[in-house]
Amino acid sequence: MDFESQNNTHIFELIVDDIVGKGYSIHENALPINLVTELSEAARLLAGTHFKAAGVGRDAGLVVNHQIRSDNICWIADDCNYGIAWFKWVEALKLHLNRRLFLGLGEVESHFAHYRQGDFYQKHKDAFHGQANRVLSMVTYLNPDWREVDGGELLIYSDDSDHILTKVTPSWGTIVLFLSEEFPHEVLPAKCDRYSIATWFRQTNIS
Ligand code: OGA
Ligand code: MN
Repeated sequence: MDFESQNNTHIFELIVDDIVGKGYSIHENALPINLVTELSEAARLLAGTHFKAAGVGRDAGLVVNHQIRSDNICWIADDCNYGIAWFKWVEALKLHLNRRLFLGLGEVESHFAHYRQGDFYQKHKDAFHGQANRVLSMVTYLNPDWREVDGGELLIYSDDSDHILTKVTPSWGTIVLFLSEEFPHEVLPAKCDRYSIATWFRQTNIS
C-alpha cells in the first residue's frame, strides 16, 4: 500500500468514527495537496466562463432564488484530468464507507461552487426524510489563507435547528461531511471569493 492510500485509510477511518458517533465529521488537510491544487486551479479557471447561478429545489422544480442562495456553480464531470482524480478519491471514500457502515452509497454528484463577495446560502437541508436520495453530504474547501474576517463560514445546526453545533472555516483542504437528512446548515456571507466543492452520495433504489 503506498503512502497516499495509507493516509487516506486513516482519514476515512476517522470519518467513519465521527459519522457513527455524531453524524458529521470535519477534517483539515484531508486531501492530497496535489489534488487540492489541481481542483483549486480548475475552479478558478472555470469560474469566469462555466459557472452559472445555483438553483434550489429538484428536477422540474429547480429555480434560481437569490434570496435563498446567491452562489454560482459548475458540475464536475469525470472526462477531464481533475475530474478523474477527484472521483477516484471520492470513490475510494465511498467504498470505505460502504464497507464499514453498510450505507449502500451509489451515485455520486459533485459541483464546484463560487461565492463572490456578499454571496451566501440560507439555512437549508440537502435532503428530506422520505425522499431517500442524498444520504451523505460532503463539502471540500479550496481557499488558501482564509482569514476570520473573510466570513463565509459553514454553520451546522442541530436537527431541530435550535442550536449551532459547529462552525467550519472554509480553509484550503478542509472537508466536512454530514448526514444529509439530519443537519440544517447555512453559509454565512463571504467577504471575498470563496471556492468549494459540494458532493452528495446517493442511495439508489429507495423511494
Ligand atoms: C450546499 C452547501 C456548503 C458550503 O451547496 O448545499 O450547503 O459550505 N454548501 O459551501
Ligand atoms: Mn447544503
